[in-house]
Amino acid sequence: MQIGKLIITTSIVIMGLIGFTAVGFSHGDVQPQAVDITGLKELGDGWLEENPYSAKKTPDQIKRAIEIGCAAYNQNCARCHGLGVVSGGVAPDLRYLEKDQEGDAWYINRVRKGYFQNGIGKMPAFDKLMPQEAMWSIRAYVNIRPEEDDEAAVKGAGGNCQTLDYERAIKVSQ
Ligand code: HEC
Repeated sequence: MQIGKLIITTSIVIMGLIGFTAVGFSHGDVQPQAVDITGLKELGDGWLEENPYSAKKTPDQIKRAIEIGCAAYNQNCARCHGLGVVSGGVAPDLRYLEKDQEGDAWYINRVRKGYFQNGIGKMPAFDKLMPQEAMWSIRAYVNIRPEEDDEAAVKGAGGNCQTLDYERAIKVSQ
């Protein structure tokens, strides 16, 4: 009987610990989330300076890129830059980054190297954490998020990738 009780008590404690750890991870958010890039053409080893994904350049891949970018952004960047790319002020609102090639170069450099101030990491360096296909997919997603608080912004708000208006997103991707 005593041993039985001990086993039950121990199990409860262990289950509690597992539960606690799980909660700890979901709040810690330091774990980078693996990004599934299935369906995208591989970009090779050399780092690009220009976003390869757009309706014009990759008509057959742009939807998939935005889809991947949406998931990857909201899992890895949103805790600082805001869900659905609407910043709460912790880090810059990425919707206002320049959308041209210079903006691309600035973007990829920051994402690869992160940002350190007086040796303190303000943003992780992602070059060992995700492939460049994922980084450019995020760029494609960020670029199609509306800057205005309009009907298009409501779709996909809060980082919801299911309600994102893909038809419109593909149209505005440049
Ligand atoms: C731990 C918080 C944090 C995370 C996570 C994070 N960032 Fe940042 N990011 C920052 C901060 C803080 C800055 C501002 C640094 C500065 O002053 O230039 C920044 C700056 C940037 C910039 C430059 C913005 C500008 O206006 O010049 C880009 C681009 C960027 N982040 C992209 C990303 C992407 C993409 C991800 C996810 C893959 C990401 N960040 C994840 C905190 C974060």
